[in-house]
Amino acid sequence: MIESAVAVPAAAARIPVMAFPANRLRRLRRTETLRALVRETRLTPESLVYPLFICPGTGIRKEVRSMPGVFNLSVDEAVKEVRETRALGVLSIILFGLPEKKDEVATGAWAEDGIVQRAARAIKSEVRDVVVMGDVCLCEYMSHGHCGIVKVNDKAGPQSLGAAAAPPATAEYEIVNDASLELLARTSVSLARSGVDIIAPSDMMDGRVGAIRGALDEAGFENTPILSYAAKFSSGFYGPFREAADSAPQFGDRRSYQMDPANIREAMREIELDIEEGADMIMVKPAMPYLDVIAAARDRFDLPLAAYQVSGEYAMIEAAARNQWIDRERVMMESLLCIRRAGASIILTYYAKEAAKLLA
Ligand code: PBG
Repeated sequence: MIESAVAVPAAAARIPVMAFPANRLRRLRRTETLRALVRETRLTPESLVYPLFICPGTGIRKEVRSMPGVFNLSVDEAVKEVRETRALGVLSIILFGLPEKKDEVATGAWAEDGIVQRAARAIKSEVRDVVVMGDVCLCEYMSHGHCGIVKVNDKAGPQSLGAAAAPPATAEYEIVNDASLELLARTSVSLARSGVDIIAPSDMMDGRVGAIRGALDEAGFENTPILSYAAKFSSGFYGPFREAADSAPQFGDRRSYQMDPANIREAMREIELDIEEGADMIMVKPAMPYLDVIAAARDRFDLPLAAYQVSGEYAMIEAAARNQWIDRERVMMESLLCIRRAGASIILTYYAKEAAKLLA
């Protein structure tokens, strides 16, 4: 006997199914009006979050090579972009920063006049009713491009990385967890002070949600929510982002802190712990290759659930469309709809602005 590879859920087993010809599912697919009537999932611009990469200078709009249609924007250009996006019904944006300088303590991430802090202030004062999310991570601001403090264990004993961008080839290094929490907490408070509405930590250090919650509360930001990148996988799909944000690690990779793509049960533990530490919303990232993780998280947790359609997902659609191998708009909308169907109520996507235009 052949066993079915897919277990039939108990609820589905109870649905009475009459055989053909009494039952013809095509009856409700006949016209677009009928299809619209029975459609189970809908996209709305309010559920989309538009990521922006903020760079120094004025009047700058520099296209990212591996992400056609995505730009590094100076603060003034970002304000314009947010105004246009907001007018299309997209309520939220998320900010990433390209600082003037990088160092070993990510000063640019938590500086009062940091690039994201400046952008947040300008956007909040010039655009009404927009939700500004701040990505909290150190990689864009660290000279070595890792998401935490790096400690080198040389023969001479442990030492900090110092001014060198990379440890000696023979040395072992470690991304230290607990010391990094202080910088992440400091960054979060600084972003909240500059007007950021939602703090979104993407670093994957253990305990960061609790540390950030504590620091925000202590600074009087007890009403600022945390959207935790709870299940963030160590993914090749982040490639183009690292070019956009100039944040590629200078040595090694992120596998010692981001999750193994093989693990869904561990993803549930990550999410559970972030909720215990005080996350108000949770995220799964990337989106399309991880729809099962989104569905499992939706099933198990009752917090608002976000998914990030990441740079590589965007770049693949763009590249195939440029070759005329796929219908760009159709695949763009289908990819977003399916992420939503899997269970994400909020989608971070580089298509937010364009999708909103098509939805209007
Ligand atoms: C920062 C961060 C990354 C992304 C969001 N926040 C890059 C990374 O972890 O390497 C990726 C987003 C994308 O690929 O679109 N840690």
